[in-house]
Amino acid sequence: MKAKEITVTINEYGKVQAIAAAKGERLKAVLDRAGVKYALPCGGRAVCGRCRIKFLKGAPIPGSYEEMFLTDEETEEGIRILCRTVVYEDCEIELRGNITEQDMIVEAEIKGEDRETNGAGTDGTPGAYGIAIDLGTTTIAAALIQNTADGYRVVGTSSCVNSQRKYGADVISRISAAEDAGIRQALRNTVVTDIENLIKELTTSHNITYLGKSPDLKAITVTGNTTMLYLLEERDTAGLGRYPYTAEYLDKEWMLSDIMLDDIPDIGLTLLPGISAFVGADIVAGLFTLELNREEKFFFLDLGTNGEMAFYDGENLKVTSTAAGPVFEAGGISCGVASVPGAICHVRINGTDQNRRVIIDTIGGAEPIGICGTGVMETVSELVRTGLADETGLLTEEYFDEGFPLTDDGRIRLTQSDIRNVQLAKAAIFTGAKTLLDGKIPDKVYISGGFGSKISQENVEELHMFPKEFDGKIIAIGNSALKGAAEYTACVLSGWEAEADASAKLDLITDMAQLTELATMDGFDEDYIAAMNF
Ligand code: FES
Repeated sequence: MKAKEITVTINEYGKVQAIAAAKGERLKAVLDRAGVKYALPCGGRAVCGRCRIKFLKGAPIPGSYEEMFLTDEETEEGIRILCRTVVYEDCEIELRGNITEQDMIVEAEIKGEDRETNGAGTDGTPGAYGIAIDLGTTTIAAALIQNTADGYRVVGTSSCVNSQRKYGADVISRISAAEDAGIRQALRNTVVTDIENLIKELTTSHNITYLGKSPDLKAITVTGNTTMLYLLEERDTAGLGRYPYTAEYLDKEWMLSDIMLDDIPDIGLTLLPGISAFVGADIVAGLFTLELNREEKFFFLDLGTNGEMAFYDGENLKVTSTAAGPVFEAGGISCGVASVPGAICHVRINGTDQNRRVIIDTIGGAEPIGICGTGVMETVSELVRTGLADETGLLTEEYFDEGFPLTDDGRIRLTQSDIRNVQLAKAAIFTGAKTLLDGKIPDKVYISGGFGSKISQENVEELHMFPKEFDGKIIAIGNSALKGAAEYTACVLSGWEAEADASAKLDLITDMAQLTELATMDGFDEDYIAAMNF
């Protein structure tokens, strides 16, 4: 007997569509059919409780997962756990509470000014175009560039959510999802579609051809962390996710695009090389943008999910990856949201006791919906500065149970466990940096990633997140992975000599890189615990 048909009305930021569904169908299957992108942070394993969705009408009866993850008020408001929700009657849902594509789109953070490349213009085609892609776990960023007589210019940039998010928010959940060969293939197909859409969008909007005998687009470069590149190639990722975390395939690869992509034929495509399971091609690309010469000792820190870092002391290049977690992007924070309109991004606490005032800024001045990475860090710093949290991170009795409210209605709060997550992350960064520095002092500290460019060091002074050797030396460099991929692409477009120089520089980086396993260092655990204090 055919299941009764019902209608699910989906309201995605005011864009409304009605989708026919079978009574008893899983809501996420309906969303897939509607082409709506959504996030399942734990890959739908019902362990994170973050895949919340709001029913405006026809909410199903709450089940055990709602009981486990939601308050009574939330269930009454129509909030449900998306990965476990089944629809039985006509209903209307709002996607604002879930992390949707619109939430996550970020600027590709690479400026459009002309840049120079070393050794440009030997036998390259003047005016040829290339595309650089930074394949991130959360976001995929792309830049269309054109080579010029003395370098290259960025013609356009674009970005999208990595659609693999529905299989898990972080690399560990995607590695676990990819154990199933069918899902591994789906992960590959999903990300290939994302990349192809970005290439098509950038080329079409600039009237550039990627098809035909002599397309305008001549080169594509892809960088990303080791897991993302493995999933793109549909490789077995099991070894990346369990001890001793080995990555067999880390070399630079060149191929014609149709080996990797389904719809983009015959364009040279390069996958940049990586260093280890946790220090991937995105870090190599970032290092590619910097000069390795004896004159300057530099520290490079990518404040993304894992806090990868490198220290070049003029002779040696040491690299490592810390277990910082996603806190800098507000991941794992109870009221954490991405850097979207309404996210609390700046916090100041004035006055004391009855006269205490919390002054917040939100992105775009919109109604507060949660806290983003900078907001989280500034709140903790302010709590410590005002004595509302002590140096061990403990909140005063008044806020210990319920957390510290940032809005008058108390809806958005920072809890004791959020503060613990910040402490774990900042201790990981601090101890990792101290270990790599090993008593040496860098001339410059380059911080890559969106968080690094938005945070003001003064506003997070109380966190003691960086060693004092960094004081006055920090330079935010934005999306260095995309910049590195763009610079490499420009070298490819500039001819064989520039390409050979660029490849030699990549080899130098990967050959020089000495991987430091922090967990095995003497005294690391003691230093890490000590660094948790403020
Ligand atoms: S509970 Fe984690 S994705 Fe649904």
